[in-house]
Amino acid sequence: MKQILDHDLKTSKIAAPAIGEERGGYIPLPLRNLTAGDEIPFDVYLKVKNKGEQDPRFIMACPQNEVFKQEWYKKLKSLEIQWLYYSQENEAKVLDYLDRSLEKVLPDETRQPEEKVTLLYDTTLICVRNFFTSEQISAGPQMFRALRLIDSMFDLMKGGVDFHRSILDIRRHDHVLYNHSLNVCFMGLAFVSFLGWDAQKAQNFGLGAMLHDIGLIQLKPELLGKDVPRNGYKPTDSHPAVGYKIVSNMPGLRREVRYMALQHHENGDGSGYPAGLKINAIDPWARVLRILDHYEVLTSGNAHNRPLSSKEALMEMAGLQEKKVFDMNYFMNFIKFIGKT
Ligand SMILES: [Fe+2]
Ligand SMILES: [Fe+2]
Repeated sequence: MKQILDHDLKTSKIAAPAIGEERGGYIPLPLRNLTAGDEIPFDVYLKVKNKGEQDPRFIMACPQNEVFKQEWYKKLKSLEIQWLYYSQENEAKVLDYLDRSLEKVLPDETRQPEEKVTLLYDTTLICVRNFFTSEQISAGPQMFRALRLIDSMFDLMKGGVDFHRSILDIRRHDHVLYNHSLNVCFMGLAFVSFLGWDAQKAQNFGLGAMLHDIGLIQLKPELLGKDVPRNGYKPTDSHPAVGYKIVSNMPGLRREVRYMALQHHENGDGSGYPAGLKINAIDPWARVLRILDHYEVLTSGNAHNRPLSSKEALMEMAGLQEKKVFDMNYFMNFIKFIGKT
């Protein structure tokens, strides 16, 4: 079986990863998630493209159950390779491996906030991807894992502003639905921690934020992996109601979680959808989400709009607030929260 050092690798041959893109069922995994010296329980691939070849190929880099050697790690680093790949059918093994890494890293006081937040972010991203791409959304193992990861992130967020800053910095902007969902979820956990919410409320809010756009899966594969729409909601008008139905079938969640899916595009002035509700008729959790969702889309950008800086985004939102689109109290707190981080 070939291993990393058996390949003639040059920087020019390593195909730049299209993050979030999956060709032939290969899914990107950041190199930083693998620890040298660990036995890796899944096959690890590299994406390469030779001159003249049209499509990239995936070559075996580290076969399942091999120890990921220090010298391999160094070689990949020296080639500035940041992304490895795994095959979709091995996703459960990848998540188990990352879970074990988290068990080591999170309690370790010598590790930096960024390192902890990054590993948790990367792991949860795979977990969210799994939610959005599963044939069937099971309320069982997927949800338990998501809740566990959300709990860990909320715990970290209680560590204060350094952790809040890390989550705002680490967000990936790949215009992919599950990145958007994860960004909204983790920013939301930082924000409700800032607001002083308790762990149980935060956990449910985090799950609601993670799942708020799950109604969009009805549009797959056209929408998954593409831009999250900024304004033109036309093809996606039905996603709040569809999401509400999906979330309603998950047992044990607070009522507010369902309203997050249903009401996150309602505006305080009645100009939103699906019901055109005025502010007092919108559930408070959906009002918080409305702000986070809008900020995330503005600062991520998409194919038609460049990403805005946090200041520009807040200015644009302040413009909307003249029409009272957002909940005034939460909006003022959100400005303070962003200002502090
Ligand atoms: Fe949405
Ligand atoms: Fe959204």
